[in-house]
Amino acid sequence: MGMRDLTKRDSKRDFRRSLLAWYDAHRRELPWRESSDSYRVWLSEIMLQQTRVAAVISHYREFLRRFPTVEKLARARETSVLTAWSGLGYYRRARMLHAAAKVVVRDHRGKFPSTSEGLRSLPGIGRYTAAAIASIAFGEPVAVVDGNVERVLQRASGKLLSREKLWASANDLLDRNRPGDFNQAMMELGAIVCTPRAPACLTCPVVGHCATRGELNGIAKAEPQKKREIHYALDYRGGKVFLVQRERSVSLMPGMWELPELVGANGDHTPLFTLRHAITVTNYTVKIQRVAAAHGVRGKWVAAERLARLPLTGLARKILRKADLL
Ligand code: ADE
Repeated sequence: MGMRDLTKRDSKRDFRRSLLAWYDAHRRELPWRESSDSYRVWLSEIMLQQTRVAAVISHYREFLRRFPTVEKLARARETSVLTAWSGLGYYRRARMLHAAAKVVVRDHRGKFPSTSEGLRSLPGIGRYTAAAIASIAFGEPVAVVDGNVERVLQRASGKLLSREKLWASANDLLDRNRPGDFNQAMMELGAIVCTPRAPACLTCPVVGHCATRGELNGIAKAEPQKKREIHYALDYRGGKVFLVQRERSVSLMPGMWELPELVGANGDHTPLFTLRHAITVTNYTVKIQRVAAAHGVRGKWVAAERLARLPLTGLARKILRKADLL
């Protein structure tokens, strides 16, 4: 396969070189790219978690003007943090941001942990955000996978990669000398060239390494999608959520935690909310109901603040986020 085969060393080297040269020449001038200060990088990555770049730009500068240092943010009242956040949505992120600032000041003398592992101990920082901050602010050679990077990797490889394979292949491709730039270049490529619809393959710096060249609009769509409806119980009381653990013997996500599924007549109430979730060839309509699990279901009550540290299924995470519990 020559240059296309990204398992070959020369091919990976060329991919990195081409991608970074493109990034150096074409990257967007974004305010958080003006410095690699960890406070600024952290703030931008939290803001970017569920919000588009355009909306973040205007809030980022104003937020920094009000809270120029992590100490100032830690000392601020929650209402003023929430006010500065207003318009960005998902206010739980702002509360976590404030909590993390306090931890950094109180437990780390105002310095952010400099490794992705250390960063993950802070509120509001998961695998993606920890890797983004560690690579951009501290040069740690760890790759990130967000929605944009995922699409680039799926198209380049022409394969439908599992979550773990995506992280492994991103780490394998990573430029270890410029990890922060490489990660941002991958995200940038996905955001402005390798777009979900009508990717701009003619201007893509790594088209020579791409197995699909935009022909497949996401490989999953090549197979006909099945439709299914599924119902879950969200039982939330006294700050705790009722969760069940998947059997350790199942092949898919063994031992992970999720909401109890409602089957049969149990699923007839008006849903609290509905969301869509796609797994390989099935599109699920997921309805969440504010009810108790069926009688006899074994599970445990988990305090909302502990949810982030529990191995949850992707769907459970999505539901709990939407319910503003995570
Ligand atoms: N999305 C999240 N973080 C980003 C970054 N640093 N650059 C571009 N897009 C991003």
